[in-house]
Amino acid sequence: MKKFYQLNRVDRLKELVKKGLITDELFLINENLTDDQLAIFTENTVGQFHLPLGLVNGLKVNGKSYLIPIATFEPSVVAALNKATHYVNSGEGIIVTGEKLPVTGQIFTSYHGDPKEINQKLAENKSFLTDQGNFAVSHLVERGGGITNIKFEFEHNVLISSVEVDVKEAMGANLVDTIVERLAPLIAETVQGEVISAILSNLPTGTPFKAQAKVPINLIGIDTAKKIVQLAQIATFNNARAATNNKGVMNGLIGAVIASGNDDRAVSSALYHGQNLGKDRSFTHWRVSKTDLIGEFSGYLPLGTVGGAITTHPDAIKGMKLLNVKNSTELAHVFMAVGLASNFSALFALVTDGIQKGHMRLQAKSIALSMGVKPQDLQDVVNQMVTLNKFDTLTVQKIMESRNNNDRNK
Ligand code: MEV
Repeated sequence: MKKFYQLNRVDRLKELVKKGLITDELFLINENLTDDQLAIFTENTVGQFHLPLGLVNGLKVNGKSYLIPIATFEPSVVAALNKATHYVNSGEGIIVTGEKLPVTGQIFTSYHGDPKEINQKLAENKSFLTDQGNFAVSHLVERGGGITNIKFEFEHNVLISSVEVDVKEAMGANLVDTIVERLAPLIAETVQGEVISAILSNLPTGTPFKAQAKVPINLIGIDTAKKIVQLAQIATFNNARAATNNKGVMNGLIGAVIASGNDDRAVSSALYHGQNLGKDRSFTHWRVSKTDLIGEFSGYLPLGTVGGAITTHPDAIKGMKLLNVKNSTELAHVFMAVGLASNFSALFALVTDGIQKGHMRLQAKSIALSMGVKPQDLQDVVNQMVTLNKFDTLTVQKIMESRNNNDRNK
């Protein structure tokens, strides 16, 4: 019987339906958008941009097995994640803790007078400001969300009013921007200052999500485990390595975020600025216990399960159906796990075969396919390219000619 990755695209989907993991309706989603639909997402539309969608099949997160769609151009990312899935699932899967946090909006104003007195005045106005802000997003308040706190700070002659909002299942940018734009002139008036600007902060505050993966040492060997720890440690003190280590985390994570229709720029920004930059630049840490290689990844993921592209773009709708999560906390748990698994597979490859071996095989495959090599010939052509260590179209042509000659001479 063929393995999942050996099936063609349609048979893979049929297999998932057969196992009851997806329903037929997933096939019916038309990914080709009309001009009117495209215009919802950007102005000056001239076309549609297609990213390949690969599947991570069965990564176990908090005891549940997930189908995780990854939108990516990088050929090795999904294969690497599936490999990591095999290793981390051999333990108890990845355990992730943390809850979705409120989103903070910032209002920047000048002010006139003594900060202490102004603070007092603002504190007295807090409930009025809360009512006014909530009024601007009454639909959110109806769903049980709204402003949870307002704080005031004075920095470099600027009053920074921070408005914390429980955004429920939305990512929250629009809701929070609506609130702070409404409150900005009211605050400026109270402090006899002028509005400089009002916008959400992409940096959540509070406890970040924490993911932990355990890979049994007997699966990978103690030497490999120790080298992974060493390589991960280098990223904690060497900035150049940290950039690459963190890119390995983002390879899987961003692909998953895009496939869900969430804001990948917001996620990148929150992850980078949530780090204790300057002290420890690495997103991840690895150590060994007696039995396991243990990896940890802690960070902020501002995500939603409703609103924007998530519920309107057919590709995102498909992605969310595959993910099958009940809320944005669960979504963040899955994505944290993807980030950590992606980091593990990169580190594992780096300290064993090196990164090029797997990359070049996939590269060879895509060159061969682009040259029209038939599926039944693919494996052999790729093997020959890898043996020759030549990855160009001329080599494919020569291999195919020699195969055709051999066939003729038989
Ligand atoms: C390549 O896309 C990602 C890696 O460079 C990450 C890393 O070095 O950890 C392999």
